[in-house]
Amino acid sequence: MNPICAALDLPDPVSAAQLASRLAGHVGLFKIGLELFVAHGRAAVEPIRKFGLPIFLDLKLHDIPATVEGAARGVAQLGVQYVTVHASGGTEMIRAAKRALPGVNVLAVTVLTSLEPADGEVLRLARLSIDAGADGVVCAPGDVAPLRKELGPKPLVVVPGIRPAGSAAGDQRRTGTPREAIRAGASLLVVGRPLRDAPDPAAAADAIAREIS
Ligand code: C5P
Repeated sequence: MNPICAALDLPDPVSAAQLASRLAGHVGLFKIGLELFVAHGRAAVEPIRKFGLPIFLDLKLHDIPATVEGAARGVAQLGVQYVTVHASGGTEMIRAAKRALPGVNVLAVTVLTSLEPADGEVLRLARLSIDAGADGVVCAPGDVAPLRKELGPKPLVVVPGIRPAGSAAGDQRRTGTPREAIRAGASLLVVGRPLRDAPDPAAAADAIAREIS
């Protein structure tokens, strides 16, 4: 499977579907983020479904367990395959999300790639998340190797902050190249602006696919 997950970070469902149609056949998954989902809800998800690729809903849920469980029941109605929660919400919150989403991959965000974690924080949060039933974790490129070692081969390790050589970091602090992340054991690469802002997004995705093959 193509491990490139294209972040459709655009303000409206029409532009998101346009980017998706340019990338279909060149990436393996589509990610719908907070901006699009808060503004458009289900209407942001429906037009992306027709491309037939798995959908990753990046809501980064973080609240008391009962509230997250309720929100997760709503996610279960959307027919997506991946959803994110914040690992710092704790064991009970992650268990609650998984209870409501038995057939969906629940990914726990360790520490945002825009932040600098304290020593040991990423490993601790990842361990807690997997022990609580999460299917995988989201971490920065530099965290992949130690996390893969800590968690073993099974959990998904999903990596944003991906920057092919020569592309701008933007607000990301902890970035890495596609090849480094895959070599270190990443399962999926989340790529946003390097595809969205490329003159030819499909060609940019193909270049990443070549780099990691
Ligand atoms: O444009 P860029 O490639 O930086 O986009 C990365 C995407 O991954 C964005 O949609 C962002 O919300 C998401 N993300 C992240 N860091 C995390 C989790 C998700 O950058 N820890």
